[in-house]
Amino acid sequence: MKKSKRKSSASNSTARRGSSTKGSAPVAANPHGRGEPRIAVAIMAAGKGTRLKSQLPKVLHEVGGRPLLEHVIRAALRIVPASDVFAIIGHEADRVRAATERTGINFVLQAEQRGTGHALMVARAALAKYDHVIVLSGDAPLITPETIGRMRNFHLEEQAAMTLLSAIVEDPTGYGRVLRKSPASAEVHGIVEEKSASPAQKKIREMNSGFYVFSVPDLSLHIEDLSTSNAHGEYYLTDMAQALRRAGKRVVVWQTANADEVEGANTRAELADLDQRMRLAKCRQLMADGVTIFYPATCVIDSDVEVAPDTVIEPYVQLLGKTKIGATCRVRSYCVIRDSEIGDGVLVRPGCVMEGARIAAGALIGPYSHLRPESEIGEGAHVGNFVETKKIKLGKGSKANHLTYLGDAEIGAGVNIGAGTITCNYDGVHKHKTVIEDGVFIGSDATLVAPVRVGKGAYVGAASCITDDVPADALAIGRGRQVVKEGWARAKKKE
Ligand code: UD1
Ligand code: CA
Repeated sequence: MKKSKRKSSASNSTARRGSSTKGSAPVAANPHGRGEPRIAVAIMAAGKGTRLKSQLPKVLHEVGGRPLLEHVIRAALRIVPASDVFAIIGHEADRVRAATERTGINFVLQAEQRGTGHALMVARAALAKYDHVIVLSGDAPLITPETIGRMRNFHLEEQAAMTLLSAIVEDPTGYGRVLRKSPASAEVHGIVEEKSASPAQKKIREMNSGFYVFSVPDLSLHIEDLSTSNAHGEYYLTDMAQALRRAGKRVVVWQTANADEVEGANTRAELADLDQRMRLAKCRQLMADGVTIFYPATCVIDSDVEVAPDTVIEPYVQLLGKTKIGATCRVRSYCVIRDSEIGDGVLVRPGCVMEGARIAAGALIGPYSHLRPESEIGEGAHVGNFVETKKIKLGKGSKANHLTYLGDAEIGAGVNIGAGTITCNYDGVHKHKTVIEDGVFIGSDATLVAPVRVGKGAYVGAASCITDDVPADALAIGRGRQVVKEGWARAKKKE
């Protein structure tokens, strides 16, 4: 589907949105039909974020469970490969780089932050080999690859020197405003920042999102035209619109219908608002996929979490990191589950805390169980109240129902661990392993001093302290014998 290029200015961006971009995959780049243009993405992420009053650089503040910048990088990586993404960093650059390095993108250092225009001046050399650059803002995490792709396609179709992404918002206070040549025209005269806007301009509700596409040769040639004679004494990238227009270049605007996407976060309240919206969107997506969430506004579910259909999530549940939950499970209230995998049909009762655990189908966990990293709970196994586990395997159908610590242990199938059992895994220097074979019965209040092995089918008497291996099918008792002194209490009371 090839559109005629340079439609008359009567075709406004809204009309185009309905036709030329419909169904275009975000990554497919080339509406031109000529050779693939070389496209880079530059992400502006050098600013301090003064309004957050934070030690942490702004772009590392989290929404939806990951840093602002990481959201933007992920969207960029759906458009171009990592080798063509450049994050412009400055304030706390080392920290920002360390937090996002694993994405494989490039970094450009803007040592002194003299404005968004200056950020692109600094990146000029890195971008020289490209035909176009998509400029994104590191503090606007809701941007989608689809919208970036459409803005890029529009830019290429229009053969523009600069394309900016805009949106109509209820309250545009604080944003730059788009000055169109005429309401029906996609062509833009300029962008006026809030502080320099006249009362009439302040009434314009079409805001500049801070996302752009530039033709790199045009940007390079004219970026030196920017000056710092404005309210902030900074180089405004927004002034490129006028600079390019003056040089007779084509500057156009592409308006997205989804204003939510372009919102940036400048304050903690705005961060909280974005976070909440992202979480709700996640809940809605899960619900659309067949998950019941009783009170979505109270649940905190990270973007990467997966939940299979017919699972029920009760109020006040947090599902974090790379957590995966199977089908027909029920996660009851007040559970905090991070980076854990839960099979089908598992019941997690209230108040459980898990991190890095794996739970097989049909298991029963909680209330108030604490599953620490490398806890592997077998099919149909039970882990009950006030049970803490760490680096263990609990076999199929085994039960540890009450008040127990199981660490560094391999526990077979069909084992019963009595209330109050403790694996003494630590001698003050090293950790040691406890092995409990299939079908073992451990009586209540046993202490198993590792390294130790309890053989298949053996019994351990209640309150035993087990320091030596127990052979299969044996009974081990390790406790003082009971002594009964008849009449002792009566005699004592008479004294
Ligand atoms: C900018 C736009 C404004 C637009 C708004 C949308 C300018 C002058 N104004 O204002 O028209 O409506 O975004 O959110 O561009 N940054 C750097 N280096 C710098 C300064 C900033 O990398 O020297 C980065 C920041 O880290 C941030 C992004 O650029 O990620 C935007 O900067 P910010 O100060 O938030 O611009 P706004 O005031 O929001
Ligand atoms: Ca901003």
